[in-house]
Amino acid sequence: YMNYRVPRTRKEIFETLIKGLQRLEYRGYDSAGVAIDGNNNEVKERHIQLVKKRGNVKALDEELYKQDSMDLKVEFETHFGIAHTRWATHGVPNAVNSHPQRSDKGNEFVVIHNGIITNYKDLRKFLESKGYEFESETDTETIAKLIKYVFDNRETEDVTFSALVERVIQQLEGAFALVFKSIHYPGEAVATRRGSPLLIGVRSKYKLSTEQIPVLYRTRNIENVKNICKTRMKRLDSSTCLHAVGNKAVEFFFASDASAIIEHTNRVIFLEDDDIAAVADGKLSIHRVKRLASDDPSRAIQTLQMELQQIMKGNFSAFMQKEIFEQPESVFNTMRGRVNFETNTVLLGGLKDHLKEIRRCRRLIVIGCGTSYHAAVATRQVLEELTELPVMVELASDFLDRNTPVFRDDVCFFISQSGETADTLLALRYCKDRRALTVGITNTVGSSISRETDCGVHINAGPEIGVASTKAYTSQFISLVMFGLMMSEDRISLQNRRREIIHGLKSLPELIKEVLSLDEKIHDLALELYTQRSLLVMGRGYNYATCLEGALKIKEITYMHSEGILAGELKHGPLALIDKQMPVIMVIMKDPCFAKCQNALQQVTARQGRPIILCSKDDTESSKFAYKTIELPHTVDCLQGILSVIPLQLLSFHLAVLRGYDVDFPRNLAKSVTVE
Ligand code: F6R
Repeated sequence: YMNYRVPRTRKEIFETLIKGLQRLEYRGYDSAGVAIDGNNNEVKERHIQLVKKRGNVKALDEELYKQDSMDLKVEFETHFGIAHTRWATHGVPNAVNSHPQRSDKGNEFVVIHNGIITNYKDLRKFLESKGYEFESETDTETIAKLIKYVFDNRETEDVTFSALVERVIQQLEGAFALVFKSIHYPGEAVATRRGSPLLIGVRSKYKLSTEQIPVLYRTRNIENVKNICKTRMKRLDSSTCLHAVGNKAVEFFFASDASAIIEHTNRVIFLEDDDIAAVADGKLSIHRVKRLASDDPSRAIQTLQMELQQIMKGNFSAFMQKEIFEQPESVFNTMRGRVNFETNTVLLGGLKDHLKEIRRCRRLIVIGCGTSYHAAVATRQVLEELTELPVMVELASDFLDRNTPVFRDDVCFFISQSGETADTLLALRYCKDRRALTVGITNTVGSSISRETDCGVHINAGPEIGVASTKAYTSQFISLVMFGLMMSEDRISLQNRRREIIHGLKSLPELIKEVLSLDEKIHDLALELYTQRSLLVMGRGYNYATCLEGALKIKEITYMHSEGILAGELKHGPLALIDKQMPVIMVIMKDPCFAKCQNALQQVTARQGRPIILCSKDDTESSKFAYKTIELPHTVDCLQGILSVIPLQLLSFHLAVLRGYDVDFPRNLAKSVTVE
């Protein structure tokens, strides 16, 4: 966070940084840290104070106020502070390994990093051979040391901060979003990214100098730092920078996610891979080393529609709970303006120009991780039916491990709530390299997946903060169904089916409300189950995905063992687990698999199993054999999974609360998995 000509006390600066971290806590939370200017208020002689702490952001906040040497009332007219929450990838969670990482004991350069540097061992060896001493086990520390190395070996005194960073990132392999601060460049900030998200928010009560920042390119290859410096200094004038007109007060917020800054500003610039953004004298400029033919020559300031209240918990005890209860609205928002219930048509604006090409394709490959993958499993059958194309569903990591053959007449879908999941992003790049058409289905505007795909659908579910994905799943599900409907618009033989599904979509929000009203009953069920060690969830056909997704929710937030079992596979092994003690949830709906599910039910009860059955309201048959039933409203077979997953979302939530766990921040997990 940088305030330029906006006087702020140290306390206010802390509060801005800490609040931003709290909003990002869902991304990772084993330790946190800040770097701010020390007590010397002379801009030219500032020193950097680092405060780092193992634990959550609250622990860091408390630590900040314990620092005797820091006067909270001291006011800074211009100041740049950086802060970070860490989710350990290299090195255990502790204060030394947390960020900011520093170049040396004098904190000459400090850096915060989101991502992974894959060649850090080689860099570390090199820097150690040059006498640089490391204190942490992190990959990030090599970046802090490397920038100092470049600085120490500069050939001219007037080298710019961004020129140093440019030199540094040329040596880095892997994924990163980085923000640097240095005592050598007081009041200046440099940020850059490759593969990890980074955006810049701008706030000023004065008019901004431009709405589009032109990107600067260096035309010559770097031979030495001197060159970099000279070429850039010449070309930086007011028309290539963003600032408040007349050099008036302006604030810049650098963040890996808009939720960290949305309470300050909704005016943001999304950086592209290899952009280097620098603020000096209150002016923001962006430059790149190489110019590629496909490069957009400018970065626009965009206005985000997200509102703070959307990311607050409201009356709920956890974000996850709020998000489960938001589903009548989020599902409606996904369809809003796209499904026309009068004409029975669907229009997905982001795909319409590519429809012809998609219709001609060899097959559809739908790729995702975790819950997003389950949305692909859930809709595979209806996509096969409506598109009459072969549909492969793939876990991104496995898809890459297998070097799966992909052809230019394939259409590849990438499902991702965050739009930043590293495995999914790598699979996207893999498919792009093979010239397949790529389609993104994401919930995050400006995310890497939404930008790198040829076309796509924004699921419009609103920000999802709880680590366990809930409303994004139902919105991804609906987005894929809408795609199938759009593809089948002129298939005469499918018109009745299309009408049935569109009719089903219309009543979904009301039916979801009906399912949510079962909350108390599900809470009672949780009271019976919460001391168990294991929970099986069984079903088939359209509801197999419900079982996988329900089991994932249970394991990730309750830490109970849970398994989603395809009922057709029961007799091939899992039946051995069934006895009087083992809790089994069976999902049995009135659909083409109903009779087969009855067989599975018989097999379970014959082994004294006591099934808890999720079934349709009018199903008198299944309930005869049930230990307990949860009765759900009926909808079209291919949409039933949207209703049947909700009781399992609620159940996992209540189980986790009863077991005493933090529902929104399950151990070892992060919301955005930006590492492979
Ligand atoms: C589970 C969960 C994860 C994510 C997975 C992919 O509740 O949230 O399994 O679904 O990490 O994340 P996105 O959808 O952001 O690509």
